[in-house]
Amino acid sequence: MLNRIDLLKMKETKEKITMLTAYDYPSAKLAEQAGIDMILVGDSLGMVVLGYNSTIQVTVEDMIHHGKAVQRGASNTFIVVDMPFMSYHISMEESMKNAQRIFQETGAQAIKLEGASKENLDLIKRLSEAGVPVIAHLGLTPQSVNVLGGYKVQGKDADAAAKLLYEAKEVSTHGAIALVLECVPKELAELITEAINIPTIGIGAGAHCDGQVLVYHDIVNYGVDRLPKFVNKYGDFNSHGQQAIETYIRDVKESIFPGDKHSFFIKDKNILPEN
Ligand code: KIV
Ligand code: NA
Repeated sequence: MLNRIDLLKMKETKEKITMLTAYDYPSAKLAEQAGIDMILVGDSLGMVVLGYNSTIQVTVEDMIHHGKAVQRGASNTFIVVDMPFMSYHISMEESMKNAQRIFQETGAQAIKLEGASKENLDLIKRLSEAGVPVIAHLGLTPQSVNVLGGYKVQGKDADAAAKLLYEAKEVSTHGAIALVLECVPKELAELITEAINIPTIGIGAGAHCDGQVLVYHDIVNYGVDRLPKFVNKYGDFNSHGQQAIETYIRDVKESIFPGDKHSFFIKDKNILPEN
């Protein structure tokens, strides 16, 4: 399993880091078998698995429940679990407690949180000192969608770009082990990647990041009906799955299934009771 030092080395040697989300046992197992470097139990869970229209309803309990399932499916892979909405904003004490629970109960290798407010920087520092590796997440931070005014590309003007670069340096100096950059112009993500010592993992942030992350259900087209511009569709669970279910329904309706090969038999017909 990778560790923090391996990730730094991969940045230095320009070996790309691959990260994919997973939310349950089978998705984690498949990602690990395929050889992914890191698994993210993202709070995108709320949208792609639980059917909410944002990540805001996701709770600490949800993250722990799904994080444990992922851990059972991919115990040899570096697992990162997201801290959900408002679980690190009430007070330092509550933030530390929630981070502890998520890290300890899921057995993850790191946790991830969005934004670089003064409080978040303090939290990153305190967690790192306590032995909890933290991955930061800047650019489009979906937990703030209602403040940002939608899911939009971030850092598009001079002020926003300068702020993003500054924040990237801050999370790095406060101890974050990596930085997720979401929906950031390619040129800015490249500049940030060169400016900081920790690996950047991009999603909608161009090819120059040290690694890439995508949502499991997006790359295999499973249960999603619209794919963002930054996703490449590598599979099509939707059409394969629907075809399988339609064929099952037809086979039962037409008494094609179950066949004898799916059935059990008795050796001695005499044991059957009389009707
Ligand atoms: O929740 C999530 O899936 C994420 C990734 C998109 C980075 O945070
Ligand atoms: Na997330």
